[in-house]
Amino acid sequence: MTHPFYVSRLALTDFRNHASLSLDFDARPVCLFGPNGAGKTNIIEALTMLAPGRGLRGASVPELARDGGEGRAQVWAVSARVSKSGEEIALGIGAERTPEGGIKRAMRRDGQPATANELGEAARMTWLTPAMDRLWSGPAGDRRRFFDRLTLARASEHGHAAAAYERAMRERQRLLSDRNFDDAWLTGLEREMSAHGAAIAAARVETLARLQEAIDARPDGAFPKAVLSLEGTFEARFASGANSADVEEAFADLLSEMRFRDAGAGRALDGPHRSDLRARHAVKGMDADQCSTGEQKALLLGVILAQARALADDPGAGPSLILIDEAAAHLDAVRRAALFDELLANPGQAWLTGTDESLFEAFEARAQRLEVRDGAVRAV
Ligand SMILES: Nc1ncnc2c1ncn2[C@@H]1O[C@H](COP(=O)(O)OP(=O)(O)OP(=O)(O)O)[C@@H](O)[C@H]1O
Ligand SMILES: [Mg+2]
Repeated sequence: MTHPFYVSRLALTDFRNHASLSLDFDARPVCLFGPNGAGKTNIIEALTMLAPGRGLRGASVPELARDGGEGRAQVWAVSARVSKSGEEIALGIGAERTPEGGIKRAMRRDGQPATANELGEAARMTWLTPAMDRLWSGPAGDRRRFFDRLTLARASEHGHAAAAYERAMRERQRLLSDRNFDDAWLTGLEREMSAHGAAIAAARVETLARLQEAIDARPDGAFPKAVLSLEGTFEARFASGANSADVEEAFADLLSEMRFRDAGAGRALDGPHRSDLRARHAVKGMDADQCSTGEQKALLLGVILAQARALADDPGAGPSLILIDEAAAHLDAVRRAALFDELLANPGQAWLTGTDESLFEAFEARAQRLEVRDGAVRAV
């Protein structure tokens, strides 16, 4: 069992409840255990800051700074060294003080300023948290964001398209709410929305195809196979064979037709920002939201394990970390042991948390264990 991709060092400075922490790791799974409030999830969150976006809690930059009672630190830093097929890459993200005395987010790769995509490509990862236990039955927006993260891990340009789409959509809505129906201006924005929107939908459809293939290739076992589908006007067009130009055209026409209705609604009523991800339990033939809590979790784990497989098999991507906060929640001992076996087989390192060391017994010596207590960490 070798993991060609793993975090070999993680250092935190004034990040959440961790004043200063520096830890070294080998390639085996990392199990963090300790009492509630010790700082386990914060360590996982620190790693997720290396991925594009706002990490597993969606926190703002100032929230992440340590609040030590004596006042809140404003600057914080997460630095990591990752080992990729023997090559070491140094990654860092944090809030830094500017010469003018302000605070700004800064990212580095091997000591040089880097973009979120450059960091993300060096540290691909997927995570699962207790908040996602309600993913299948909760709001569509959560599923869409989850799926967009899966897409972003495969195709980092998805982030640019999403940001450009949002910008054009906001601008259009501003005009519409001012009752400014300037045709040339609106048409320009709608062209932008439809170009980026079509790119977003196409990237999602591609992610879904690869993910479903990886799910279907999984052995039957502890994690039931999901049949995934995307609900969205434009994803559906791609799925039925339309090309980008057709989808763009159709979207631009629709936006133009919908101006008055969108003005009244205060938002664009259709577009990829409204799409949803659906899942069905393949064997039971039941929608995921009708399955038990444990079954829903097992379905989601199957998706996450398949995502790691799909990334590993994609020459444009590669191995990825799998982070599981509260690894034991809703999983019986048999499923937990099956999960550990799958994590050991993934070419990227796994990170898990739990309150009790005994949860990780089935790993035997195949994992490293660290006890987290009051923001201090001790290898055991
Ligand atoms: N910005 C911050 N500064 C200081 N402490 C913080 C900050 N944000 C959160 N905390 C605290 O960090 C502590 C550890 O949180 P964390 O979520 O990592 O705990 P945990 O070990 O995962 O616990 P549990 O087992 O309950 O999930 C909490 O007491 C939380 O209030
Ligand atoms: Mg926690």
